[in-house]
Amino acid sequence: MTNNKKIPTHLAIILDGNGRWAKRRNLPRLMGHRAGLRKLEQMVRLVKREGIRYFSVYAFSTENWNRPVMEVTGLMSLFRYYIRKKVDEIKSEGARIRFCGRKDKIPEDLLQQMKWAEEYTADQNILDFILCINYGGRAEIIDAVNSLIASNPQAPVTEQDLRKYFYLPDVPDPDLIIRTSGELRLSNFWLWESAYSEYYFTDTYWPDFDENELRKALDDYAGRERRYGGLKS
Ligand code: IPE
Ligand code: IPE
Ligand code: MG
Repeated sequence: MTNNKKIPTHLAIILDGNGRWAKRRNLPRLMGHRAGLRKLEQMVRLVKREGIRYFSVYAFSTENWNRPVMEVTGLMSLFRYYIRKKVDEIKSEGARIRFCGRKDKIPEDLLQQMKWAEEYTADQNILDFILCINYGGRAEIIDAVNSLIASNPQAPVTEQDLRKYFYLPDVPDPDLIIRTSGELRLSNFWLWESAYSEYYFTDTYWPDFDENELRKALDDYAGRERRYGGLKS
């Protein structure tokens, strides 16, 4: 636990590089995804220890359906396995599991399992562990706009009016977004919510990301000055 240090309230990670991690070892891509999910277990514990309140991870984007069917079905199976095997452990850490994204296209049994895991851990309040599956920032904004229109709002609508219809309206914007594997882009993650997020990029592939890497990212964040368009405080 870091004392007297600026800690992000909401830490978001774009879990990238599973495929290249596997390729480098001459393994099938799915082995990389398996290693990536295993890494996530450890990260939930570490993040909680740091006193972070919201931890979101980008695990499957609305664009990832464009991958070969075998990889997509393999990923869905890994999500099933991960939820079933890890829910108790995550709960015992005081973490509440939440899913964020569109509900269409996800296999029905996985959807049911996701719903169950959310209900089963709903009473935990130390950490919100948010898995973004079938999430896209543009999809979220469009879904919110459509819900807002359906509610027959009084014009002019405000940012707050729209925000109410986001997938997880109570979750604060990410303070720090980490992306692994050396790619320098958002790939449709937290599009609206990242307006004032700090970024941290590392070349490390997600399955190799560790405590030391997390430490470095958090230390870097602690030294940032956030101005939100204002002046130095
Ligand atoms: C991230 O790893 C996990 C998902 C997008 C599902 P990748 O599968 O994108 O790994 P690379 O980028 O091909 O190495
Ligand atoms: C972003 O990674 C999505 C997730 C990590 C779930 P991708 O590997 O899909 O992103 P691009 O295609 O390199 O932008
Ligand atoms: Mg990738």
